[in-house]
Amino acid sequence: LKDDRESLFIVNEFARNYFAATLFEQQEGINVGQSYFKERGFREETMQKFQLGYCLDQWDAFTKAALQAGYQMEYLEQSGLTIKKEEGKAFDRYKGRVIFPIHNLTGRVIGFGGRVLKTDVKAAKYVNSPESLIYHKSETLYGIYFAKSKIRDEDNCFLAEGYTDVISLHQSGIENVVASSGTSLTTEQIRLISRFTKNITVLYDGDAAGIKASLRGIDMILEEGLNVKIVLFPDGNDPDSYVRSVGGTAFKEYVQQNQKDFILFKTSILLQDAQNDPLKRAEVIRDIVASIAKIPDSIKASVFISETSRLLQMDERVLNAELNKIKRKSL
Ligand code: CTP
Ligand code: MN
Ligand code: MN
Ligand code: MN
Ligand code: MN
Repeated sequence: LKDDRESLFIVNEFARNYFAATLFEQQEGINVGQSYFKERGFREETMQKFQLGYCLDQWDAFTKAALQAGYQMEYLEQSGLTIKKEEGKAFDRYKGRVIFPIHNLTGRVIGFGGRVLKTDVKAAKYVNSPESLIYHKSETLYGIYFAKSKIRDEDNCFLAEGYTDVISLHQSGIENVVASSGTSLTTEQIRLISRFTKNITVLYDGDAAGIKASLRGIDMILEEGLNVKIVLFPDGNDPDSYVRSVGGTAFKEYVQQNQKDFILFKTSILLQDAQNDPLKRAEVIRDIVASIAKIPDSIKASVFISETSRLLQMDERVLNAELNKIKRKSL
């Protein structure tokens, strides 16, 4: 089993090098792949750093090259690089896509994400590695290898949704950032961050899905005993599009001025819906107290109860009574 894992690492390393060589040395790679990245504002040194690549738009160019080089079909299939059809026909999973290698803490490649060049086609925007002996999506944070020392230095981790958010922020000089690769944050991912800092700033997309995921993420982060702040970007922007439009310095300023603790964030999001309806208002307060109930540290919890009391003009004793009720229920 240990040898199987090592074989998967080695075949991934070959693929990473092959896709990078395609991006930098082959005509189609340069014309199609590099042009795509450049249009997105990625500099060449950025492509090198993140070891980005391109997979030719042919059925099995990569798979053939890998077999030719002596790699076994068994591992090509297990890593998901090759998809085998019933009649034994094999083709490249990332055909015609730009490639984002995914690294573990030590910088080895455990999987890949592949993006289509045009989103108007029916194909999924991103195709990712399947679960394998070395790739477990729920335990992985994109960019952790490149960010870990900066997360420690800054004692804060920016948490974004996607590959391009991480890469654009790095390119703009913000390096303490990782992505959950989609919006469903897991406890394992939070625990991975907590090895480097206890402070997370959520930078999810400024759309409905991003807001919903932030609300869910908050409770999970609090439950792990970490501190959480949330930044909402204007007009449906994500960190990538926002930093590209304003630059790194203005991005940092925006984050400084607009980061909210979870009480303020929840209040601003939830009260919009509640308006002046007192029953809905009560639900918002209950919702916030339920989040506070997730905090293991009772002194921190009581600080947030005070904040809620001030902000929503609600007697602290009432809030504490509700807090205790929720805590008793969850025992
Ligand atoms: N994702 C995925 N499969 C999809 C859509 C999204 O795996 N079909 C993951 C990817 O890791 C992606 C992240 O979710 O980076 C966030 O999705 P989204 O915001 O839609 O994409 P962006 O990262 O903003 O990518 P782009 O700017 O290229 O559209
Ligand atoms: Mn798994
Ligand atoms: Mn999104
Ligand atoms: Mn984006
Ligand atoms: Mn996005």
